[in-house]
Parts: sequence; structure tokens; C-alpha cells
Amino acid sequence: MTSTDSAAAEKPAKAPAKDPWDLPDVSGLVVGVLGGTGPQGKGLAYRLARSGQKVIIGSRAAERAQAAADELGHGIEGAENAECARRSDLVIVAVPWEGHGKTLEALREELAGKLVVDCVNPLGFDKQGAYALKPEEGSAAEQAAALLPDSRVAAAFHHLSAVLLQDPEIEEIDTDVMVLGEERADVEIVQALAGRIPGMRGIFAGRLRNAHQVESLVANLISVNRRYKAHAGLRVTDV
Ligand SMILES: NC(=O)c1ccc[n+]([C@@H]2O[C@H](COP(=O)([O-])OP(=O)(O)OC[C@H]3O[C@@H](n4cnc5c(N)ncnc54)[C@H](OP(=O)(O)O)[C@@H]3O)[C@@H](O)[C@H]2O)c1
Repeated sequence: MTSTDSAAAEKPAKAPAKDPWDLPDVSGLVVGVLGGTGPQGKGLAYRLARSGQKVIIGSRAAERAQAAADELGHGIEGAENAECARRSDLVIVAVPWEGHGKTLEALREELAGKLVVDCVNPLGFDKQGAYALKPEEGSAAEQAAALLPDSRVAAAFHHLSAVLLQDPEIEEIDTDVMVLGEERADVEIVQALAGRIPGMRGIFAGRLRNAHQVESLVANLISVNRRYKAHAGLRVTDV
């Protein structure tokens, strides 16, 4: 045996690359939606519950959450935001950017140990349309990560049309969902959750430091929607 042969023999065998579509079973997770009484939260809650997920809608007022839950059916429950966070395994943040920081700060304890999925798009609007705001932390998702040191934060579901999500006549939501996060296991949970909704795929799209572009892209989609009278989504090709 040559010295090169013995070096090769000592080298540990490289583990085969993981199949990026080998995603975990998330069907048993309870999903909470903070701000779940708005169009985006209601739409996501409806789609996930319709796909068999246990969903709790959160609100600043328990009765508003209950009313939204009753309206949507599919076993959805309603609760005040703190109780929603406490009872959920994975919590989607669907409050407006204006209330984002304060909401999360107040729920730090309830969200500890949970997977928090931010879908908030910090946008401004003027006569020329929608434009991206520049959060001090870089993005809404990075603000969430800074405010919630004891939670695992991911970002996803930014580019969905709440109109399509809420329309019961629509069977499939034809779009990809960009999922960002620091830990592969957490990203895969969110990808798998997106994949439970017929027509949707969750695609890994980088770490949270790249969330700003993904959040900002909604300003472009709003321009598309206005010009073409559409509810545009996104597809990532060749994956
Ligand atoms: N709409 C879309 O198509 C869409 C798509 C992708 C992502 N998003 C993002 O999803 C988020 C929610 O969108 P939306 O259109 O559903 O928003 P929204 O209707 O303005 O707000 C959602 C809910 O948040 C609660 N809320 C309102 N102001 C608040 C505040 N200052 N602090 C805490 N909670 C507050 C309200 O619920 P209660 O009064 O019951 O507490 C409201 O029903 C936004 O950040 C948006 O960027 C929206």
C-alpha cells in the first residue's frame, strides 16, 4: 500500500448528500397564526386547516379570533395571541409591520422554544405605489430573531395572495414559497408545512440575512398585480 492509499483509507467516507425534498412529517404540529384575523392570517389558517393541520388563530382580542375561527371552520380554534403562541408548536407572524416589534416583544416568553415563521413585508405606500422599507435590523425576520433570542426564527409565505388563499373555490395555490432560516431542520419543517397545501412547494432560499430582498419583492408583485389585474405568485424554475 502506498502512502496515498493509506491516507485515502483513513479518510472517513463522505455521507451522501441529503435529498433536499426529503422533508419531515409535520402533520402533527399545532400551527398558531398571530394576527390571524387579517386576510393573510385567515387565508393561511384556512389553507393549512383544510389540508388537515391543527390551527389556532390569534388576535389581540379573543372574541375576534373566535369569530374568525368560526367563520373558517375546519376545526380552527381562536385565542388571544399569547394563548395562541403558548398552545402552538409553530407560530406564524401575520401582523402588520407597524405592530411587529411590539407584538413579538410582548410574547417573548410564550414564543420561547417555538419555531416562529415570519411572513411580514415591511412596505410603504405612496402615490407611486408600494415600496420596500428598510428595517434597522435588516428585515422583519431579523428583527424577530433579535427580539426572540429563545425562539427559532424562519421566514416564509411572503408572496402569497390572501385573496386566493381565502377563496374556497380554488383547490390549488399555484406558487412556490421561499423559506429562509439559519437551521436546516427548521427550514425543512416550514418547507414541509408549505408543501401540505396543494399546489405549493417550499423552497430553501437562504439565511435570514437575505430576508430583506424576499420581503421587499412583494412591492414588485403589487406592481404586477396592479398592471395585470392579477394575484401573482412566484415559481422558482429548475428545482
Ligand atoms: N395580505 C396579503 O396578501 C399578504 C401576503 C403576504 C404577506 N402579508 C403580510 O402578512 C401580514 C398581515 O397582513 P394582513 O393583510 O392580513 O394585515 P392586517 O389585516 O392589516 O393585519 C392582520 C391582523 O393583525 C392585527 N393587528 C393590526 N394592527 C396591529 C398592531 N398594531 N399590532 C398587533 N396586531 C395588529 C389585527 O388583528 P386583531 O385586531 O384581531 O389583533 C389584524 O386583523 C403583513 O405583515 C403583511 O405584510 C400579507
